[in-house]
Amino acid sequence: MRSVIDVPDLSLEEIDRLMDTAEDIIAHPAVYSERCRGKKLATLFFEPSTRTRLSFEAAMYELGGNVLSVTGAGTSSAAKGESVADTAKTVSCYADIIAMRHPKEGAALVAANNASVPVINAGDGGHCHPTQTLADLLTIRREKGRMGNLTVGVCGDLKFGRTVHSLIAAMSRYENLRFVLISPEELKVPSYVKNECLKQKNIPYTQTTDLESVIGDLDILYMTRVQRERFFNEEDYLRLKDSYILTPEKLQKARPDLCVMHPLPRVNEISVAVDDDPRACYFKQVLNGKYMRMALILMLLKEAGRL
Ligand code: CP
Repeated sequence: MRSVIDVPDLSLEEIDRLMDTAEDIIAHPAVYSERCRGKKLATLFFEPSTRTRLSFEAAMYELGGNVLSVTGAGTSSAAKGESVADTAKTVSCYADIIAMRHPKEGAALVAANNASVPVINAGDGGHCHPTQTLADLLTIRREKGRMGNLTVGVCGDLKFGRTVHSLIAAMSRYENLRFVLISPEELKVPSYVKNECLKQKNIPYTQTTDLESVIGDLDILYMTRVQRERFFNEEDYLRLKDSYILTPEKLQKARPDLCVMHPLPRVNEISVAVDDDPRACYFKQVLNGKYMRMALILMLLKEAGRL
């Protein structure tokens, strides 16, 4: 049974096809409005979410399907000690496809290995968040008109930020990319991500703590929140949380066609005064995420023989 747990589960060609389908859905929504009639998506969210859960659910409704939902470990039998494996086997009896978010890294893979329907990882701990990356990729293609020949800055919590790990893995497959990794010393990109995605592929990258010194070089600036929920120590979080705050003044040094992205939720990383700048693309990312999730649900249900 085909599931999507991490970005490499999808080939570059498949990602291109998903983006083409998303564009077609945007252009012709009525054509897709009954495609999933009679099908059910289960959203199992054992960690907080606004965008990912609601966009999966909106995606299924806009395809004419239905949704079954678990929100929070406290409202399901996980609170009684039920394993992820048993939950996945159980929910497979009710739903045609599962989207799952869980605080433990690897939980989505365990679910996929035990489910008899496709499982989509909606974020597993600090590991990865592949459907956020699909939203990011469509945003980059729509805003920049290309996926290669880009200087991509990622800024903030690059250690715990799972969206960053997935984005670097995905973008590293395109031609002529350069990464600028901007973070405090304590929140650098993990070595395994640098080794597997950048060093092994000879992709140039630099690391810095200073956003303002590099902002003028960037085609894309991907801001991230410091992930309070992954810190062991509140003092460290408080010390690091406002390391980077993007303001209109800082943007004066940036290119006129910079694309400012953020997976959201933001806390303080981008001043609300930036929202009216035409370079701010983070709410476009939110909408693009719904269309990419529609495309992914269609692909996986077709492959599973359920459409
Ligand atoms: N980007 C993202 O995953 O947002 P939520 O946590 O609100 O789902």
